Amino acid sequence: MSHTMTLPPQQALIGGQWVNTATTIQVEAPATGELLARIARCQADDVEAAVQAARQAFAGQSGEWASWSARQRSEWLLRFADVIEVHHEQLAELECADTGKPMTQAKGDIAACARYFRFYGGAADKLHGETIPFETDFAVMTLREPYGVCAQIIPWNYPAQIFGRCVAAALAAGNTVVLKPAEDACLSVLRLAELAVSHSLPAGALNVVPGFGYEAGAALASHPFIDHLSFTGSPETGTQVAQAAAQHHVPVTLELGGKSPQLVFADADLDAALPAVVRGIIQNAGQTCSAGSRLLVQRDIADSVVANLCERFAALRCDTGEADADCGPLINARQKAKLEVRLAAAEADGIRVAAKGQLAVSASAGGHFVLPQLLTDIPEGHEVLREELFGPVLVVQVFEDEAEALALANSTDFGLCAGIWTRDGGRQLRLAKGIRSGQVFINNYGAAGGVELPFGGVGRSGHGREKGFEGLRSYTRIKTIAIKH
Ligand code: NAI
Ligand code: MG
Repeated sequence: MSHTMTLPPQQALIGGQWVNTATTIQVEAPATGELLARIARCQADDVEAAVQAARQAFAGQSGEWASWSARQRSEWLLRFADVIEVHHEQLAELECADTGKPMTQAKGDIAACARYFRFYGGAADKLHGETIPFETDFAVMTLREPYGVCAQIIPWNYPAQIFGRCVAAALAAGNTVVLKPAEDACLSVLRLAELAVSHSLPAGALNVVPGFGYEAGAALASHPFIDHLSFTGSPETGTQVAQAAAQHHVPVTLELGGKSPQLVFADADLDAALPAVVRGIIQNAGQTCSAGSRLLVQRDIADSVVANLCERFAALRCDTGEADADCGPLINARQKAKLEVRLAAAEADGIRVAAKGQLAVSASAGGHFVLPQLLTDIPEGHEVLREELFGPVLVVQVFEDEAEALALANSTDFGLCAGIWTRDGGRQLRLAKGIRSGQVFINNYGAAGGVELPFGGVGRSGHGREKGFEGLRSYTRIKTIAIKH
């Protein structure tokens, strides 16, 4: 990594000030295992101060944020999108070093972050309520109001993108934010927050409390003065934060990952489908909630598709983010160990590793690399078909016909995304309607990130929607006013 990389503050952002915490957390570089930076370790009292600052900025008499019109918020968000673009190189460098993802992907993430601010900046002054025809002597209207203090707990896999998705939408709607970024990777988020403050975001509109989940995260989720909670991460932690928020009847949006299928039919355009199948699982080393982590392939083409994919997987190269290979390391030793235990169990159960990528010779031995791999011959109902592995591991299942493809697609508790590859228009729509998930992609996968496209899950993938206009609405609530005249 470049020696000139400027690190963000080792502090928390509370009420427009960067403040020290009693202790700090060491952040390592996933590609080498070496110390990269330190971040603040917020405790309950820091979270308390941040929530009070956000509350003051939202409702306080003197708060500048509370006095801003929708147009002023729009203008600031649009300006901030430009600021992100001016600093995109430095932000991408931080994201690459901190998460280990290939530089090209880190750059794409920063571009997406800027797009969120531009999209929600453009939308902020176009969000409105309705008038409702009621009795003749009534006038009825709805106001779309911000909730107030939005608590946002985000993960380490896409810090900058998820910052954009959550913070831009919440601010556009007029809320204030207390953000708890992940202890494993949040340097880009801290730098973005620093840029927001230095570009005149009113004090208290955005507060950032880095720290551990069980300390800062738990204190935030259970705080009585938060008005909305948005969480992205594991189903288990999602349950915990939702239970904590329920104590104070705080509404929650949960984005909890998936086991998303890619369905490839015999009539598919394989030249388009197969590269997309590979990309869908190796992006960010498979540590993506919306990863296409299951391949469902029709029997007639299964052997040739697997043979083709074996060649593609064998050619994949793993290396540091800076080297910008196909695949970077996993985020930490714990995630690597968890995956390796599952892969060893799969092998013991007779599952075949049909192909594996290669580790670059220059890659550091301290990096948390797991080679991209393709698993076949998997017993029905096996754990690797049902559980999120969160690594570059694609599992293959074979189906006979459309009915079996649909049954397999819906055979997990998750439901985030699905890809359908077929030229048959009727089948495209039947499956799109039948699949239990928040997003369906036909003859593509992921729609290039889709800042504008509503995103979220069903079942164990969570509930509520982020992204697009729907995501903006979800940071507001309706008030109905009925006037008798
Ligand atoms: P996690 O769900 O524990 O962490 C996500 C965020 O929640 C982090 O900011 C963390 O500090 C915070 N957190 C943790 N415990 C908390 C608590 N008790 N109260 C409040 N906040 C808390 O995920 P983790 O441990 O990093 O990864 C475990 C697994 O979760 C992964 O293997 C993967 O399967 C899944 N995951 C899914 C993600 C997604 O994008 N849907 C992102 C990250 C992880
Ligand atoms: Mg955890």
